[in-house]
Amino acid sequence: MEIRAAIVKEKGILNIEKAELSAPKATEVLVKIIASGVCHTDAAALHGFIPWVKYPMALGHEGVGIVEEVGSAVESLKVGDRVGLTFPSCGICSYCQQGAPYACDMVNDLFFSGAYRDGTFRITQNGKNIGSFFGQGAFATYAVADARYAVKIEGVPDDKIKYLCSLGCGAQTGAGAVLNRIKPEPASSLVVFGAGGVGMAAIMAAKIAGCIKIIAVDVVPERLELAKEFGATDVINAKEVPDVVAKIKDITNGGANYSIEVSGVPELSLQAIQCLRRLGTAVVSSVTGPAEISIAIEPMIMNPSITFAGLVEGASDPQVFIPKLVEYYKAGQFPIDRLVDFYQFEDIGKAFEDSHTGKSIKPILLFD
Ligand SMILES: NC(=O)c1ccc[n+]([C@@H]2O[C@H](COP(=O)([O-])OP(=O)(O)OC[C@H]3O[C@@H](n4cnc5c(N)ncnc54)[C@H](O)[C@@H]3O)[C@@H](O)[C@H]2O)c1
Ligand SMILES: [Zn+2]
Ligand SMILES: [Zn+2]
Repeated sequence: MEIRAAIVKEKGILNIEKAELSAPKATEVLVKIIASGVCHTDAAALHGFIPWVKYPMALGHEGVGIVEEVGSAVESLKVGDRVGLTFPSCGICSYCQQGAPYACDMVNDLFFSGAYRDGTFRITQNGKNIGSFFGQGAFATYAVADARYAVKIEGVPDDKIKYLCSLGCGAQTGAGAVLNRIKPEPASSLVVFGAGGVGMAAIMAAKIAGCIKIIAVDVVPERLELAKEFGATDVINAKEVPDVVAKIKDITNGGANYSIEVSGVPELSLQAIQCLRRLGTAVVSSVTGPAEISIAIEPMIMNPSITFAGLVEGASDPQVFIPKLVEYYKAGQFPIDRLVDFYQFEDIGKAFEDSHTGKSIKPILLFD
């Protein structure tokens, strides 16, 4: 069928073009896209910052929509179901088998090569293959995705589904870092470096988890104000506070139990470790360049029994975790709808610009 998709053919240039989308294979579904979130990883792919990304590529990896066709082997979904598309995984490697699809052996290929698990493509233009980012390519009127990573969304009215795009990546990443990886015990203290889309979800999740101190660190006053509305008990403007680590230690009476680095600033990983108390855990979830930091392993990590952890997609098994986040959303405890700004698909350039400048925390493209 003919679709319109936002395709990058050379670094930095994204155009909406007509293309052909093939029918879903046995384990796949065809989804009519309602809305699609813009994540910083799309921009990183567009600008050539992810070495595994191959052009041409249809970008977009936070699509929500309606199932219009199901492959012969799909049992979990039917035509008419509302779904959120999320990150792909193979389903057969040992990591997928143990419920850790975010650590899938094929993660780089399936996220970034544009091919599906069998190595074939779903989008073509004049017979030439076009990649589908994250096995979906959801900046498009229609997308094909494996049912493994199309999560049924139930009990949300149609006019609200468009607010939920970031469950597929950004919100899942922030909330999952807290609820799946850290699992704070009651009355913990937790620091979030970077109050963007991912960080705000982490703050909401820390409140859900019962953290007693939730400290947001950012450089934009409006974001820190918003962080307070979502549950931050203390905020630190890193532009105004000369020693952020000392301030955190002061607020937490000696150091935080947990920290999450989602600012995209590599050097803050060091602060994320330094602000902890003994037995603490620092989680790094931002996509950045190489971090120019040096860690004194023995005094900083070994002696105080600190864990320094990396994380993809919030350590989430999306078929399990996304429905839980939907329940928190419906209960008013996960208000990610307050982070979004809507743009028509044609205004994708403006949406990317507003994401880059920080004018919009979570731009969402609409497809009529
Ligand atoms: N690991 C994953 O699975 C995954 C998934 C999605 C996004 N990400 C990454 O997570 C990061 C955050 O994504 P986002 O969408 O929330 O981005 P964002 O740009 O909305 O948020 C980053 C925040 O960091 C703040 N910041 C910038 N410099 C700072 C400093 N020196 N000190 C404190 N705060 C500072 C910014 O003001 C902004 O609010 C990005 O690097 C993104 O690529 C990772
Ligand atoms: Zn796998
Ligand atoms: Zn993303």
